[in-house]
Amino acid sequence: MPLDTTPQTDPFALAQALSGHHLIDGQLVAAASGRTFDVVNPATGAVIGQAAEGNADDVERAVQAAAHAQTAWKRLPARQRGKLVTECGTRLAQHADELGRLIALETGKALRTESRVEAGVLADMFLFFGGLGSELKGESVPFNPDMMTVTVREPVGVVGAIIPWNVPLLLMAMKIAPALVAGNTVVVKSAEEAPLTVLRVCQIMNEILPPGCFNMLSGFGPDCGGPLVAHPKVAKVSFTGSVETGRIVARAAADRLIPVTLELGGKSPMIVMDDADLDRAVEGAITGMRFTRQGQSCTASSRIYVHEAVHDAFVAKVRARVDAMVMGDPLDEATDIGTIISPQQFEKVQGYIEAGKKAGGTAIACSRLPQDPALKKGLFLQPVIFTDIGPDAPPAKEEIFGPVACVFKFRDYEAVIDEANTSEYGLAATIWTRDLRTAMNATQRLEAGFVQVNQNLVVQPNLSYGGVKASGLGKEASLESMLEHFTHKKTIIINMT
Ligand code: NAI
Ligand code: MG
Repeated sequence: MPLDTTPQTDPFALAQALSGHHLIDGQLVAAASGRTFDVVNPATGAVIGQAAEGNADDVERAVQAAAHAQTAWKRLPARQRGKLVTECGTRLAQHADELGRLIALETGKALRTESRVEAGVLADMFLFFGGLGSELKGESVPFNPDMMTVTVREPVGVVGAIIPWNVPLLLMAMKIAPALVAGNTVVVKSAEEAPLTVLRVCQIMNEILPPGCFNMLSGFGPDCGGPLVAHPKVAKVSFTGSVETGRIVARAAADRLIPVTLELGGKSPMIVMDDADLDRAVEGAITGMRFTRQGQSCTASSRIYVHEAVHDAFVAKVRARVDAMVMGDPLDEATDIGTIISPQQFEKVQGYIEAGKKAGGTAIACSRLPQDPALKKGLFLQPVIFTDIGPDAPPAKEEIFGPVACVFKFRDYEAVIDEANTSEYGLAATIWTRDLRTAMNATQRLEAGFVQVNQNLVVQPNLSYGGVKASGLGKEASLESMLEHFTHKKTIIINMT
């Protein structure tokens, strides 16, 4: 069964079949230590499978396999590599339902609103990058008429990618699709909470890619991610996760003088002016806060500044929209909102809700907890909208990574722009207004990597994605991200005299 790569309909059986494996050099293999750890369904608390517990020995095997494979992979014509990556996208699209079910089971994200959508975007990312092979162009430089001077783009080598659990398929695709097309090979370290679906993706892709090009390890951060960053043959690290771990990874990369891309946290502002189309802004808050993903998003619009003239109406409308959402079994098509990922994260979010109440905020709990007894151990949490909360209260300032939005009332545009920019983060920002001058002014002044007016799109292929300030270093998802972060430029001079 583990080697059956036709689409599967039963995520429970698939989780079992994938259990206890890394994928190294084209093979599903056990951890060198023989150890595994539990993978838990957060909707019931039941163990659904096991993940191989990787350590430095597994990293060694995987990186050596990737280094070996890179020699031939980088010599394939770029369009040929792209074609194989496109083929991966086509094949993964056929697995969208299967992958959606498995990721829903593993992470508690609702199948219809989140998990199946993510599986579709995963495939799309491969299809997009697969077409970019011939864009790996260099330049000719007018240095000296007697010297032919050109630059060429070369792959960096073996890429180590460390990914989180919130949108593991998409976040992984944004790293490995461009890395592979550019001629690198990759070793991915999955997140402890979501190791199985990404392993399945790797398995499917290994039917198409030569062995060793894409390797997958599961394991704990310091024991498996640490050795990956430290491995002498890893030439580049791409990390998505917390600021705290991002700093650890960046320090380790600095010791080795290798480049690192960091996509870290956020506390993204959304500004609603008094002339905004309120219903549109309400929908923007629903998408922006990722209420259907329990707010577990680095771009979550978790600081919502609403002009005092429309504040109460806005809050009432957002509340009504979230109240109407169905919380329940993530695998049920009727469900809008699933569960929090883990007990630790559940406690962390609850801690922020308590801290917000202590700081004098009004906590409006929305939607209803599921009544099904089968879900009584599930990590379901009512989304909370805070009003009347000060800007320095912990939930107003810190990244919560949960379904908690803070809504602030404002009167003065200048003051609200300053307030929006006080955050240590700078990932995304939106402004909602019908006034062109206000919109243009805000797009220039908001400190964020991604600013939108009157809409709140999520990551899209070929729109550079990445933050400023503590939100990270470098961009992902675009052609530029492939060129800047997964290649280096070599200058070549041919003296013709
Ligand atoms: P984390 O940043 O610790 O984990 C992300 C990845 O890094 C995982 O694969 C983990 O195993 C790995 N890792 C952890 N320690 C490492 C180390 N020393 N060396 C190398 N790799 C290491 O995030 P975690 O623990 O899952 O969540 C903590 C908080 O981080 C959350 O509450 C949330 O606020 C934030 N977070 C932000 C994300 C984002 O996309 N910006 C994603 C996930 C979490
Ligand atoms: Mg951690």
